[in-house]
Amino acid sequence: MCGIIGYTGHRPAVPVVVEGLKRLEYRGYDSAGIGFVQNQDLHVVRAAGKLVNLEEKLASLDVFLATSAVGHTRWATHGAPTESNAHPHRAGSLCLVHNGIFENYEEYRRLLQSRGHVFSSETETEVLTALVADERKPGLPLLDAFARALRKAHGAYAVALMDQSEPDAIYAARRSAPLLLGIGAGENYVASDIPAFLPYTRNVVFLEDGEIIRITPSSWQIFSLEDLRPLPKSTHHINWDMQSAQKGGFRHFMLKEIFEQPRAIADCMAGRLNAAHTAVVIPELESSPLPPRLRIIACGTSFHAGLWAMPLLEEWARIPTCVEIASEFRYRNPLLMPGETALVISQSGETADTLAALRIARECRCPTLALCNVVGSSITRETDAVIYTQAGPEISVASTKALCSQMLVLLLLALYWGQRRGSLPSGFLPEALQALAALPAQLEAALPALQTEARALAQKYASVAGMFFLGRGQSYPLALEGALKVKELSYIHAEGYAAGEMKHGPIALIEPEFPSFILVPHDSLFTKSRSNLEEVQARGGPVIALTNPPKSDLNLAVPQTWIIPDAWGPLKGFFFLPALQLFSYEAATRLGKDVDQPRNLAKSVTVE
Ligand code: F6R
Repeated sequence: MCGIIGYTGHRPAVPVVVEGLKRLEYRGYDSAGIGFVQNQDLHVVRAAGKLVNLEEKLASLDVFLATSAVGHTRWATHGAPTESNAHPHRAGSLCLVHNGIFENYEEYRRLLQSRGHVFSSETETEVLTALVADERKPGLPLLDAFARALRKAHGAYAVALMDQSEPDAIYAARRSAPLLLGIGAGENYVASDIPAFLPYTRNVVFLEDGEIIRITPSSWQIFSLEDLRPLPKSTHHINWDMQSAQKGGFRHFMLKEIFEQPRAIADCMAGRLNAAHTAVVIPELESSPLPPRLRIIACGTSFHAGLWAMPLLEEWARIPTCVEIASEFRYRNPLLMPGETALVISQSGETADTLAALRIARECRCPTLALCNVVGSSITRETDAVIYTQAGPEISVASTKALCSQMLVLLLLALYWGQRRGSLPSGFLPEALQALAALPAQLEAALPALQTEARALAQKYASVAGMFFLGRGQSYPLALEGALKVKELSYIHAEGYAAGEMKHGPIALIEPEFPSFILVPHDSLFTKSRSNLEEVQARGGPVIALTNPPKSDLNLAVPQTWIIPDAWGPLKGFFFLPALQLFSYEAATRLGKDVDQPRNLAKSVTVE
């Protein structure tokens, strides 16, 4: 996702900021820009594409006098990744960079247009910049005007602001997007992540939601956004090297990405609910008809996302849906019905089999839709419509947060199409949206305990030769995913199975040395899954039952349960998934495996 850095101090600011942006490149971006004041003039230089394009533009300018600057790498959300949509955006003497989504920008865009403001980009960030300028009244400090504008903005953001008439000061604020202060000697920084300023200072203040900050070379003050009361904050000293800093203090990227899932869920929802949070909006599909049928095509973990969502698409949106593995689909003569929509799911957008399947669907003249995480990837360039999963870059080879974001977007799609068809029962949507709104915080609170339990189970079971992951209904694809993760990370043979299929053969494998992780959430299949669990137990197989906190009629008689926090309906899956991911992570690290780069695997499978 986007990266921000602001610098004010004694060095030439432009090179410091460009170097900082390079160290934020890992976050992913598709355009970049910088704003600085030199010779009392505000300059904004922006370029589409990689940072080298921005550097080329800067090379032809004399930029060495500026000692304050704000820089940005943009990961397109509202508006294409063009130079005019790149940040910073300007309004009068102000320039602003922004990470996140200003959800209710449309109402302010209209208001500001009615007051004569002319916008030159498609972005909500330009509206936010103009809103700050609009709040600026004679005698009112910029801090107050900035705070007033931010109080009106719904959504997640980290923002940094500069003013031509106050060239040494940078203002910044955050809500649900990362922002830190770096404290140097005679210089200060704000940035989305520590690596941006790590070569210059290791003294950091972590900003919290609802905080706003003003920095100059010799001072920093943090205030509450609500009433601008100064806030005491403590400084932390960072000992990490650059690589660990990019891992945010986690031992591996995979662990970091598992813990980023609450953030990924919040980012996925941003901009996809209306301002009152009473309806799902998918602007990318507003002009497309409701698909009469869906053919979901994907590979690996992305295939599991499709399987997980199929019952929701059928039950809520009443769309007949089938899910296929891309490498199978591409080598038969698929029969696609007129109007049937091919929905391809891919984190990377480069998976060769998925891309080939997409091309076949196009040849069959099917409408095509992609769910993808990487902006501008091959798949996104070849589909009729793209919905970005907005999980941010996934660096670890094993997919974790990408799946979480795919599940979330698919769930939103099922609600969206159900809402359009009118097939959702009355009162269902508000209940779903309320539960969704609470999900990121609930998951964030649950993750540490899930990791502790995963570690204990890994200690007990990481030495076995093989294990089952069993589930029914929406727990079946999660069981497949649990098994896939164990295989690819720890190289233990793990089999994911539909629990009801066990008696048709695989139950022969059950013996005291062969454990089964059985997913038994409190859903409509609870008693069925419990019976399958009992069948395994009766044959002497050790069972680890992943289930929700016991209730009087929802109980399991098993020696080993793993209690997973409960949630509304299918949201339960968002807690079972990280439990399984964490188990595979803990088992693999215990066995000393290369978690982020398992043997024989590549992050992007561009060969068939
Ligand atoms: C497993 C994993 C793979 C990918 C698969 C598809 O952890 O990462 O199974 O899910 O290679 O990749 P994308 O989603 O990029 O098409």
